[in-house]
Amino acid sequence: MALNKIFRAVIMGPPGSGKGTVSARITKTFGLKHISSGDILRANINAKTELGLLTKSCIDQGQLVPDDVMSRLILSDLRGLDSWLLDGFPRTVSQADALDEACSVDTVINLNVPFQTIKQRLTSRWTHLPSGRVYNTDFNPPKVPGFDDVTGEPLVQRDDDTPETVTRRLKAYETQTEPVLEYYRSKGVLQTFSGTETNKIWPHVEVFLHRKLSFVKEQVA
Ligand code: AP5
Ligand code: MG
Repeated sequence: MALNKIFRAVIMGPPGSGKGTVSARITKTFGLKHISSGDILRANINAKTELGLLTKSCIDQGQLVPDDVMSRLILSDLRGLDSWLLDGFPRTVSQADALDEACSVDTVINLNVPFQTIKQRLTSRWTHLPSGRVYNTDFNPPKVPGFDDVTGEPLVQRDDDTPETVTRRLKAYETQTEPVLEYYRSKGVLQTFSGTETNKIWPHVEVFLHRKLSFVKEQVA
C-alpha cells in the first residue's frame, strides 16, 4: 500500500513491548518511514560519535537521555519528512511538548503488554545493530542462528538487556513515560492495543491503520 497523504504516527509501549517488531511490519505494509530513537542512539554508540560517547553510560544504566539532547536530535531528523512513524520518542511530557510545537501527530499506537511478559522476552532478543531489526530465539528466530536474514551480518545482544537494567528501564517507563499516554489520551489520538503476543496484537494494529489511512485519503478526496 502506497501512502498518498501526510500521516504522522507515534508508537509507544514499555521496553520490550514489541515497538520495534510492530514498526517493521507497519513500514513493510504501509510504507511509513520508521524513526527509532533507540536505533539512532545505538548507531551513534557503535560509530563512537560524540553523541554516542555522551549517551552510552545513560543507556547502559537504563536511564533516559536528557530531554534537550533527544528533542534536538529527533526534531532535526524529522525536518524535511512528510510522513513518519516515531518509535521511542516522545518519552517524557517535555519531549511531547517539543514535538507538539514542531508538528501535529495523527495517531498514537500504544502497545500495552504486562511487565512479567517483557522481562522474559528481552533476554532472548537478538538485534542487527545497523538496521535495528530484532529477532527472538523463541518467537521470531533468524533463518541462520546468530545472523541477520537480510544482510547475513552477525546479530548481537544489547548491553541494556540484562535483568537489572530491564528493571530500571521499566521503572523509568512508569514514572516518566506513562504520563505521555495521558497527554495523548486527552488530545483524543491515543489507541491502545493490549495483549501478550505481538502476532496477536499486530492484526488489530493493521486493521486500525488501514481504516485510519483510508479515512485520511477520503478527507483529501
Ligand atoms: P529503545 O531502543 O527505544 O528501547 P525500549 O523502549 O527500552 O524498547 P525496546 O527497543 O527494548 O523494545 P521494543 O518495544 O522495541 O520491543 P521489540 O520489538 O524489540 O531505547 C533504549 C534506550 O535509549 C532507553 O532506555 C534510553 O536510555 C534511551 N532513549 C531512547 N529514546 C529516548 C528518549 N526519547 N528520551 C530519552 N532517552 C531515550 O521486542 C522485544 C522482544 O520481544 C524482541 O526480542 C521480540 O522479538 C520479542 N517478542 C515480541 N513479541 C513476542 C512474543 N509474542 N513472544 C516472545 N517474544 C516476543
Ligand atoms: Mg525498540
